[in-house]
Amino acid sequence: MTNYSLLLQEAKALLSNATSDKDSTLTKICLLLQTTINHYDWVGFYFANDAEKTLHLKAFAGIPSDHTVIPFGKGICGQVAISNENFVVDDVSAQDSYIACDIHVKSEIVIPLFVNDKNVGQIDIDSNVINAFSEEDAHFLEQLNAAIADLLF
Ligand code: SME
Repeated sequence: MTNYSLLLQEAKALLSNATSDKDSTLTKICLLLQTTINHYDWVGFYFANDAEKTLHLKAFAGIPSDHTVIPFGKGICGQVAISNENFVVDDVSAQDSYIACDIHVKSEIVIPLFVNDKNVGQIDIDSNVINAFSEEDAHFLEQLNAAIADLLF
């Protein structure tokens, strides 16, 4: 059983001790989550370039992805850039617009990150287990993104 509240405290401690290098702090958070939670096989943060209408991978833990730039509207991530809503995919093979980074991935969750009510990016998590993500994950990741917005931006 994952102790999500303890994990949130650990993430907040990393954020409180952050240097000016946001990406390195976010990389530490990715590693913390990916090594602590069994069903988090890949964890990354994408941030929006509004002028170009693209998402850019700024930090991750897990195998390197070829998809470091994703146009708004494409894939699960690109859809969240436009919808501003959580997207939980229980079975990626059933999704029309899905960008595969690793053939082992079975399910995915993407939670937008709001700074002053603006959707500036997102946390994206892949699992090698089908139907891996619950409401508890969504709630935890919303709280994590709120802490990142408060403490890092
Ligand atoms: N699967 C994502 C692309 C990012 S990779 O998972 C790292 C998508 O469909 O947007």
